Amino acid sequence: MTRLKAAITAVHGHLPDYILTNQELEKIVDTTDEWITTRTGIKERRILKGKGLATSDMGAEAVKGLLEKRGISPDEVDMVLCCTVTPDMRFPAAANLISHKANIRNAFSYDMNAACSGFVYALVTAAGFVESGKYKKVIVVGADMMSSIVDYTDRKNCVLFGDAACAVLLEPTEESFGLMDHKFGTDGSGHGYLHMKAGGSLNPPSHENIDAKEHYIYQEGQSVFKFAVTRMADVSLDVMAANQLQNDDVAWLVPHQANMRIIEATGRRIGLPLEKVMVNIQKYGNTTNATIPLCLWDYEKQLKKGDNLILTAFGGGFTWGAIWLKWAY
Ligand code: UT7
Repeated sequence: MTRLKAAITAVHGHLPDYILTNQELEKIVDTTDEWITTRTGIKERRILKGKGLATSDMGAEAVKGLLEKRGISPDEVDMVLCCTVTPDMRFPAAANLISHKANIRNAFSYDMNAACSGFVYALVTAAGFVESGKYKKVIVVGADMMSSIVDYTDRKNCVLFGDAACAVLLEPTEESFGLMDHKFGTDGSGHGYLHMKAGGSLNPPSHENIDAKEHYIYQEGQSVFKFAVTRMADVSLDVMAANQLQNDDVAWLVPHQANMRIIEATGRRIGLPLEKVMVNIQKYGNTTNATIPLCLWDYEKQLKKGDNLILTAFGGGFTWGAIWLKWAY
């Protein structure tokens, strides 16, 4: 019996309308367009505004667009996996709300959290369901409303993040396309460098921890920077070596978009020229779980069937990983 593979057969994103530019940030905190551009590569990011709107609203828009694009009904979807660090509520899962808002009624759904590595982890998890032969249409949606956990008086972090969602559809194929291999790693001893101090079971919400602004992102940027470059490059090289992939065989590197300097250094360390590296950080900033699918969406027209892609991410935890993906359309 031929072993099934899970192929991405469609990708669709949703970006909130509001554009927060570096110029506007200059008016909010002590920063400059020049600092943000040279240190991060970011020029603008999207922010979800409007009462009653949250991560699931962006996720649902991405999913509705995805179904329309692929020409399938919500009733055909078997499973929805949402990767997010900013679910609408601690529970239920944002994936449940996304399914409800997108009229998906015959599927099961849940969330996964691997911080900025969430999308690559979720893609491999979802692929397992497709490869089992039991599930034919599985959606992975990376969605984050980072503005809900960003302190807009903290110039170190508020310039970095943006809000967005992007969804991919996974379908089974007997051909040699789709998810080919992956390698992941986790090091929980890194948790202190990048986390949110309050709001979890360790420090449930209180007046004190909210006054201390512990319900916002805490990051020691320089340390995270160094780990991000080495881990993303090394794990990508490991996946390439394990599959005898040379640099010339790789059509695109699709890195998590956290900082342009991290993206460039990762490409250099792997030995891939910047022309082969997907970059859209200038438009969206770091959208956490949405960065990698948003790259696929932005570059979709340039992708060719059979292209070898290396998807790689690094994030809080620490978590990191790389996937070798053969583009299927
Ligand atoms: O996606 C999850 C993983 N996250 C990441 O991968 C992020 C990794 N880290 C980074 O991208 C970078 O470390 C940052 C962008 C967060 C910071 O860049 P940096 O080059 O590491 O700057 P720094 O933290 O060393 O700060 C350098 C200086 C400091 O001033 P002093 O102490 O040298 O006087 C900061 O206070 O830049 C200052 N600074 C700013 N200045 C203007 C920090 N933020 C800003 C700002 N505007 N927004």
